[in-house]
Amino acid sequence: MTRSLLVTGGAGFIGSNFIHMLVEDRPDWRVTNLDALTYAGNLENLTSIEGHAGYEFVHGDVTSAADVARAFEVAGRDGAAVSVVHFAAESHVDRSIASGLPFVQANVIGTQILLDAARGAETESFVHVSTDEVYGSLGATGFFTEETPLAPNSPYSASKAASDMLVRAAFKTHGFPALITRCSNNYGPWQFPEKLIPLMIANAREDKSLPVYGDGQQIRDWLFVRDHCEAILAVLERGTPGEVYNIGGHNEYPNLEIVHQILRHLGKDEGLIEYVKDRPGHDRRYAIDAGKIERELGWTPRYTFEQALPATIAWYGSQEEWLRRVRSGAYRDYYEAQYGGRPTG
Ligand code: NAD
Ligand code: DAU
Repeated sequence: MTRSLLVTGGAGFIGSNFIHMLVEDRPDWRVTNLDALTYAGNLENLTSIEGHAGYEFVHGDVTSAADVARAFEVAGRDGAAVSVVHFAAESHVDRSIASGLPFVQANVIGTQILLDAARGAETESFVHVSTDEVYGSLGATGFFTEETPLAPNSPYSASKAASDMLVRAAFKTHGFPALITRCSNNYGPWQFPEKLIPLMIANAREDKSLPVYGDGQQIRDWLFVRDHCEAILAVLERGTPGEVYNIGGHNEYPNLEIVHQILRHLGKDEGLIEYVKDRPGHDRRYAIDAGKIERELGWTPRYTFEQALPATIAWYGSQEEWLRRVRSGAYRDYYEAQYGGRPTG
């Protein structure tokens, strides 16, 4: 066993992709997955690695000091030094507009509780997975750099910016070895179909309408999830504590263009597009300058949108049962079937 890693939020979209990557690429690492299994947490994302010797799931909430302490005990058993990659968060902007408090609880309070426990456990390294949304919105030109002032516009991005400040404070005040990543929009396998790309794929497959907010000309900088996971691993292994690393794919598209591409790949009619009321406070454009991580850590994206979007559409096509169970809510029963009871706590 060369390294013990505590991953929070590992049953979600990016966290489960990250754990799959570790099992392939760092097979001798111990991986402890602490996840509360909110609506976004799905153990069916991880069925293929359940028996893996170095992997253990801990059902618990980052807002509970007791749950977090239990996870550190599991990760640090046999005296192993523990590192942390912190994904756990409420992640959907529209839900934060409907109700902000759960975002403050999970993203702000949860991060502070995790930081306190990690300091107590003398954690070797703590990677806080943040987002480009903390920088706010861009006009037609320019890019977010690590020096761009934070100007979050949604309760989600405000809660992530607050968590970034707590991580920064832990480094400045206590010399705690924390690093922050800020990535652009991800797409790929196991993304919950409330986010743009999987929602549009799932609806188009069922000939349901595709809700495009406002004029559909908002721009996002799309990155295949595997590239994000590799960037986080590079930051964990080679990053400098106290530093922020932007991650992005140099891959800007207006939402409407993405929707058209999905319809074309699936051979579906553009008449499925339905223009709906715009998202309040909708950020117009995100674009990442990822020069720092490219220069300092040698990371660059490996997947192009031209390859990875069709591959993602094909993946959802090959995972009809996964998608059906997520859309129907049946995935929530998986824990009971596997472990003989609903998770508590
Ligand atoms: P997700 O919503 O798919 O998954 C979140 C996971 O965290 C779920 O498994 C959920 O059960 C768990 N979780 C939520 N609250 C918890 C709590 N209180 N305690 C323990 N577990 C909890 O999110 P995602 O899209 O995989 O994003 C993961 C992280 O990456 C988030 O921090 C998000 O801000 C950040 N991020 C996401 C993107 C993106 O495009 N999806 C881009 C940049 C950064
Ligand atoms: O930039 C990184 C962020 O990307 C992450 O921090 C967030 O966790 C992640 O959810 C994502 O945020 P967005 O708000 O950009 O993603 P979402 O998929 O919700 O929306 C992408 C764009 O598509 C956005 O401009 C809103 C638009 N949209 C979204 C949905 C769900 C639609 O037009 N219709 C829709 O139904």
